[in-house]
Amino acid sequence: MQQSSETALLAALARTADAVAAYMDRAIEESRLPSARLAAAMRHATLGGGKRLRPFLLVESAALFGVAMEEALPAAAALECVHCYSLVHDDLPAMDDDDLRRGQPTVHRAFDEATAILAGDALLTLAFDLLARPEAHPDPAVRVALVAGLARASGASGMVGGQMLDLAAEGRFDAEGRTERDAAAIAELQALKTGALLRFACEGGARLGGASAAERAALDAYASAIGRAFQIADDLLDVEGEAEAVGKAVGKDAAAGKATFVGLLGIAGARAELARLIGAAESALRPFGTRATLLAEAARFIAERRN
Ligand code: IPE
Ligand code: IPE
Ligand code: MG
Ligand code: MG
Ligand code: MG
Repeated sequence: MQQSSETALLAALARTADAVAAYMDRAIEESRLPSARLAAAMRHATLGGGKRLRPFLLVESAALFGVAMEEALPAAAALECVHCYSLVHDDLPAMDDDDLRRGQPTVHRAFDEATAILAGDALLTLAFDLLARPEAHPDPAVRVALVAGLARASGASGMVGGQMLDLAAEGRFDAEGRTERDAAAIAELQALKTGALLRFACEGGARLGGASAAERAALDAYASAIGRAFQIADDLLDVEGEAEAVGKAVGKDAAAGKATFVGLLGIAGARAELARLIGAAESALRPFGTRATLLAEAARFIAERRN
């Protein structure tokens, strides 16, 4: 009997999640860290939770070009390390000040703030260590491209830049004059804070697979659409979800004055935008035909997810 594509997606997500967690676990273990406390905080940040959607997208993008999951794991684990670090720092009192993440105390709650900052720093640098190893790809030119791509996606012109705009839009940095709440400003902020790492997932997979320029452009159009959709779904969960199911506090964005499409367009408007973006993501995958069934299903999963 043929599996429904939703069942197939859940099975593939679980398979990648297990493999990436095992890879990160081993990488931390083999680093022989001088501080057991720092190692424990890094494990807390990376293991035991998370949808592992970014690794899945990287593995699946590479699979379009015949790359086996095992070959894509180092890059997938590197990307997840950056994502986990971004969550540790996002939760700090100086940022979103959250106590719950993936159904557990946030790292600064389970340990302390200084340890959380250092665990985040350590995961960010571990990511580039993993990508630079020959295990990531036999061709050094491909490894350099991956390192450069992840650095740009993570840094001031990517995720970190978006996080800064997110805080500025809360009104914390009035002197910058960046308090606009129009759709273009929110789209830019979200494309950076959330979209950049999701785009790297597809770009990284395409690089590992030696995709053509046209194939890379098609995947990038898909990734840009799901990046926007992903943050809108996250913002809807903040309004409509329950902390127990979502695994993190809800109902905080409006109180904090976050710039979101839910705030700008209302729930119905945000849902309509979400549906439009999923349609755009599906269209972008057309050149890949049935090879991209799981990626198309992932776009729908992003829109409908409950955590
Ligand atoms: C949460 O990301 C942060 C955002 C970019 C909105 P995820 O929802 O992917 O978090 P995990 O990894 O599944 O916990
Ligand atoms: C965070 O966005 C995006 C990151 C770069 C971590 P949010 O602040 O909305 O993410 P959550 O809701 O805390 O997961
Ligand atoms: Mg935040
Ligand atoms: Mg947050
Ligand atoms: Mg959120």
